[in-house]
Amino acid sequence: MSTYYITTPIYYVNDRPHIGHCYTTLLADVAARFQRLRHGSPDDVFFLTGTDEHAEKVVQSASDNGMSPIQWADRNADEFRKAFGAMDFTNDDFVRTTEDRHKTKASAYIQQLVDSGDIELGDYEGWWDASQEEYVPENTAREHDYKSPVTGRELEKRTEQNYFFRLDKYESWLREQIESDTIRVLPGARKNEVLGRIRQGLQKVPVSRKIKEGDTDWGIRMPNDPEHRIYVWIEALCNYLTTVDTDERERFWPADVHVMAKDILWFHAVIWPAMLKALDRPAPKTVYAHAYWIREGRKMSKSLGNFIEIELLEAYCKKYSTDAVRWYLLTQGPLGANDADFAHEHFVEMYNADLANSVGNSMSRVGNMIDKYLGGELTMLCNGEFGFPGGSALQTARTALANAGKPVDDPDRTFHFPEITKAAVERAIASADAFEVDEMARQGLAVVRAVDEFISYAAPFTLAKQLDELEDGTHALATILYSCAESLRIASLLLAPAMPTKMGELWARWGCAPSAGVPLADLAEFGGAHKLKKGQRITKGDALFMRADVKEEPPVASTD
Ligand code: MSP
Repeated sequence: MSTYYITTPIYYVNDRPHIGHCYTTLLADVAARFQRLRHGSPDDVFFLTGTDEHAEKVVQSASDNGMSPIQWADRNADEFRKAFGAMDFTNDDFVRTTEDRHKTKASAYIQQLVDSGDIELGDYEGWWDASQEEYVPENTAREHDYKSPVTGRELEKRTEQNYFFRLDKYESWLREQIESDTIRVLPGARKNEVLGRIRQGLQKVPVSRKIKEGDTDWGIRMPNDPEHRIYVWIEALCNYLTTVDTDERERFWPADVHVMAKDILWFHAVIWPAMLKALDRPAPKTVYAHAYWIREGRKMSKSLGNFIEIELLEAYCKKYSTDAVRWYLLTQGPLGANDADFAHEHFVEMYNADLANSVGNSMSRVGNMIDKYLGGELTMLCNGEFGFPGGSALQTARTALANAGKPVDDPDRTFHFPEITKAAVERAIASADAFEVDEMARQGLAVVRAVDEFISYAAPFTLAKQLDELEDGTHALATILYSCAESLRIASLLLAPAMPTKMGELWARWGCAPSAGVPLADLAEFGGAHKLKKGQRITKGDALFMRADVKEEPPVASTD
């Protein structure tokens, strides 16, 4: 049985959860939900997120807040857990790098690399900023005329012994893996950047820091040499493996997708696969780096204080529903190579266009028509073909339009719902494979739009007024409405990974929750074994998404 393992970066426990963290984790959540549905076997999917806790700055901010580093980390890891709960994420685990399960295995991997000669002791030469107790990279030192960028104090050239990972040994292997897409680096523009940099040559990378007097005991020590601490990035990357390196979970390795933003692609596409090669483990199959969210046209930054933090997202969730926020982030976000702008007006515009006026309207309209015209029960099955020779329902609808003096746009028009829905499902699966999860979700919207077009064309409300006059009017009406409902049921399957709550509401009203253990291709077959059945009660209900008014004040973050 094939498995699917998807990960997000583990987030610095020092930051407050914001739109960037939520966005990457949302992409992974939507992908994981889709794969669970696709395979019909949720246990074969594993979705991991978590927090990266051993950074030096944790020690500093803990002390600024009068807490020990672990207290501070506990508190902030909880913030991430809560934020991800508020966004309805379904991660299967939440790893923290301060947990023993991570620390012991990360140490063991490092020891293995020391034993194999992939990690070795060497001299590190750099510009030491004594006032800040840190090394300043060569280009930053040069830019500041070899003075501290923070205090202006003279930098000193220092050499210290460090452990290094022999990344240089893996240069040609990495090139070959990435060029051949054995390790797929996506999107394509990012793959070219990574290859360009690899072609300039790879150097050894430092993987430890010598512990200095007065240092706290934060971090993981080099197993062979406790005078050194493992550089936080190196052990953090190991989380993807430490979490599934158990008897029950090893079947998930290698990861299918590591998803992140472009800032940390190098670590994931180059350093991590090389470490895995050195550990004699398979490399991840796909590394996907999206672009950034910006806000109302400006970069989000601490100094501008304009980050969209979780509290603001929660205010949007409260006003427009969590599913609406998930939909907006997913479909309007920086998937691909271009940055995306979070702007309130754009949010409202997309909310109305996609959700209030399309998905929500179509679903409640069809439910209401079944309630009103068919007594709330599907009285007919049909094969979803309209306008073909032998198919009479659409002809009856056209007659009703003619009787009412309304023009028929194109008298030869046909609608072929089994094909429309099948093509949408196939495109969704292909998009998911390319990690175009926004396109995947849009396939559900495409089916909704096809149903809307059919309703406008066939005008069942016009037909409904002539049931006494038209001999086969009731039959035609029931056939048309069945087809709409059955197509929307299939649309709801494709929309559910993005909007699980609203689609769950629809399933409750229409009695069509997908059966467990059945793969998507079977669930989504028009008129197949899992179709809406004849006699199924359809409960009408409120609009799934209320229309929004752009003139209303945008939500504000609550300060409780
Ligand atoms: N701890 C490291 C990752 C270690 S993984 C082994 C780290 N943490 S982070 O908290 O800074 O998170 C960076 C990630 O947050 C980005 O790669 C991206 O997934 C997400 N984002 C942070 N800001 C973002 C935007 N403005 N826009 C989109 N995503 C962004 O780096």
